[in-house]
Amino acid sequence: MKPRAKALIFYGAVSTFMLVVLVFQSDKVSYRPSLLSNTLSNFELWNRFRRTEAIGDGEKEEKVSIDKNCECKSKKTQKSYDFCYKNPKNSSLIGRKFNCSYLTILEDLKLVDAPDQSLVDLANPVRNETIFVSAISDNHFGNFREMYKLIKQHWSNQKVILYSLELSAIYIKKLKTEPNVEVREFDTSKYPKLVKNWAEYRFKALILAEAIRDFPNVWWTDSHNRWNQPKPLAQFYGEIAKCMGDPDCDKKSSIFMFVNASHSNYAVLTDGLLDYFPTYGVNTLKYNDKGLQLSAAFVYLARTPLTLEILKWHTLCALEENCMNPPSAKLKCDREPQWDIYAGCFRYDQSSLNLLMFNSFRDHNHYFMDAGEVSRTYGHY
Ligand SMILES: *[C@@H]1O[C@H](CO)[C@@H](O)[C@H](O)[C@H]1NC(C)=O
Ligand SMILES: *[C@@H]1O[C@H](CO)[C@@H](O)[C@H](O)[C@H]1NC(C)=O
Ligand SMILES: *[C@@H]1O[C@H](CO)[C@@H](O)[C@H](O)[C@H]1NC(C)=O
Ligand SMILES: *[C@@H]1O[C@H](CO)[C@@H](O)[C@H](O)[C@H]1NC(C)=O
Repeated sequence: MKPRAKALIFYGAVSTFMLVVLVFQSDKVSYRPSLLSNTLSNFELWNRFRRTEAIGDGEKEEKVSIDKNCECKSKKTQKSYDFCYKNPKNSSLIGRKFNCSYLTILEDLKLVDAPDQSLVDLANPVRNETIFVSAISDNHFGNFREMYKLIKQHWSNQKVILYSLELSAIYIKKLKTEPNVEVREFDTSKYPKLVKNWAEYRFKALILAEAIRDFPNVWWTDSHNRWNQPKPLAQFYGEIAKCMGDPDCDKKSSIFMFVNASHSNYAVLTDGLLDYFPTYGVNTLKYNDKGLQLSAAFVYLARTPLTLEILKWHTLCALEENCMNPPSAKLKCDREPQWDIYAGCFRYDQSSLNLLMFNSFRDHNHYFMDAGEVSRTYGHY
């Protein structure tokens, strides 16, 4: 081999090693700016992140110990998984164990043990396919029509997957006239019965997981959402890519939200959720500077290991009776939710997703972005 080639290989090996060291030593954020953008293979993308969950019998050297009290073993693959959430910034905080019976659902949703899933490299502004996803029952058909009208106006060829929550045949038929709307029945038979309690919003977490299994690049938009003046998507993806290469940029998430819920996380945090997703420094959750709650009506997700990890816990929460609907949780508040006083109400999937994001970043600014001018309606029609 020529000395030049040797030097190149040596340089490649050293920089890969450095990258791995950087990632493993980082307890601040899950992402590192990519030195190798545009050239990373799927394999490299997977390995760029901490892998702590799958431990196959054949992968002894990767063994990470799972507390016996938290372990769930797959009947299909014999691999073990940790079913107790560990606070990503404080591993001494461990949540209550989720029921092992949900492991087959995580496997079906490819939230665990799916190394073949192609990943999005956020450092690359090019996206293969962008899908918009929403879900409605009959009483939101009019809302969806208005929401979709705006999408069609801005992107005449944009495909939308609309999950039907037992939508009547008459509405499904009306939607047939929209060539870019694909209606999918939300199949609850795969899930515990309580998923059909629509008012507990479990379906939203599960649909996010189904969508990210099927598409690498997902925009969830509620039928109440009105994306009046969108920022061009290419600009949005470009901003993320630029951020990934900028050590001073702190928006290195792969899940982003865009709408201020106008109150703190704390104001709508019903205690029982913390049994599953413990947190610390609760005061930080009370204020606008870091603990703002963001609307789950409008979310962008790219399929990355961080997204799959967050959705794994969000999904488990949706399946577990007392996680997404903790004892005494209710939608209606006793007082207007603001900042440092609990308002006596809960926001279900929005509370769960916000807490998981907060625990990963400790500051909502890391996953709060501007997607242009957005508003929302409150009526059901
Ligand atoms: C982690 O959580 C424990 C228990 O709440 C707390 O005592 C400790 O200070 C936390 N550590 C950090 C680094 O915040
Ligand atoms: C786990 O779920 C299964 C099936 O739904 C149920 O029979 C079992 O009682 C649950 N276990 C616990 C500890 O809740
Ligand atoms: C786009 O899709 C092609 C073919 O499916 C794949 O080879 C390529 O890696 C993808 N690119 C990105 C940026 O995801
Ligand atoms: C979010 O909305 C609240 C209430 O309107 C406001 O006080 C706060 O400044 C807003 N926060 C941000 C970051 O825009």
